[in-house]
Amino acid sequence: MATILAIETSCDETAVAIVRDRQILSSIVSSQIAVHQPYGGVVPEVASRQHVELVNVAIAEALQQANRTWAEIDGIAATSAPGLVGALLVGLTAAKTLAMLYNKPFLGVHHLEGHIYASYLSSPDLQPPFLCLLVSGGHTSLIYVKACGHYETLGQTRDDAAGEAFDKVARLLKLGYPGGPVIDRLAADGNPRAFPLPEGQISLPEGGYHRYDSSFSGLKTAVLRLTQTLQQQQDSLPVNDLAASFQDTVARALTKRSIACALDFGLETIAVGGGVAANSGLRHHLQAAAERHNLRVLFPPLQFCTDNAAMIACAAAEHLNLGHTSPLTLGVQSRMSLEAVMQLYQV
Ligand code: KG4
Ligand code: ZN
Repeated sequence: MATILAIETSCDETAVAIVRDRQILSSIVSSQIAVHQPYGGVVPEVASRQHVELVNVAIAEALQQANRTWAEIDGIAATSAPGLVGALLVGLTAAKTLAMLYNKPFLGVHHLEGHIYASYLSSPDLQPPFLCLLVSGGHTSLIYVKACGHYETLGQTRDDAAGEAFDKVARLLKLGYPGGPVIDRLAADGNPRAFPLPEGQISLPEGGYHRYDSSFSGLKTAVLRLTQTLQQQQDSLPVNDLAASFQDTVARALTKRSIACALDFGLETIAVGGGVAANSGLRHHLQAAAERHNLRVLFPPLQFCTDNAAMIACAAAEHLNLGHTSPLTLGVQSRMSLEAVMQLYQV
């Protein structure tokens, strides 16, 4: 069993973790949220500079917390794609330098592959094949996980990602950034049936609807219109009911698609990943629907739904176990499909 030190700097978290056999020995996540909050979103140049300041401290802390020396590390990994180029470069350069210095195998990791394997941290026996519902700030995908490195995207969003919809709705309700956690909190005291909202289905030319693709931009516009109407009618907005109704609509839409996909492809397990996997509405709806259909749903531990390095270490460990390593010439890529993951490795 390999002990992996992984670095994740694809967006606004500077994260370093050490994982051995799906066990987290240490996990450091330095969030930059406070630095980006005044701008209402992540500023790429600011993110890169923050990563440079934080990454070495995080590496030292990860080793100290895990009580490990470099001699006990079997592989060094970093997210290499997709993400903000300047931000990715900081983590990748650090990992390559350390791999060279300590003569260790180096692995570049696809960020989404990390989210897929986050469920490994709480499920020691999980093995492909399974379906992954990946719901983050940039993605809403249903992925058929056939084997480590071999994925097929069966469904995706046609416009906004689920997390993006949470962030945009939070912004229009003036709740701040990132929106998901705030909406989740407010929804707990709201009525999910207060306002009926459109789920956003993709029509097929031959009639009917696409079973696995989603669309959230219509839902966001519906919340905007509703908010404007309510503002004309009353002094204060019923934010709890708005948050609950919006969250419930997203959760139902994702649940319906995930269950249909798992049943159609005969997959018994749905592993959820990405920041929106932390959402209590989604957890509730998906769990209940899965029980009705005799399916198993796995969620990562709460703090490993959003970006972290433990999930990157998990993905790297799977690859290293299969003998996959990356060349030290590997660069970063702002975009990369999951289907292209094996391009990161020399087998
Ligand atoms: O996976 P992640 O940390 O970063 C990306 O790779 O995108 O996901 C961040 C997204 C943000 O859009 C955030 O609003 C959303 O996940 N999020 C949530 C919750 N926690 C984070 N959305 C809904 N409910 C939550 N509890
Ligand atoms: Zn992510």
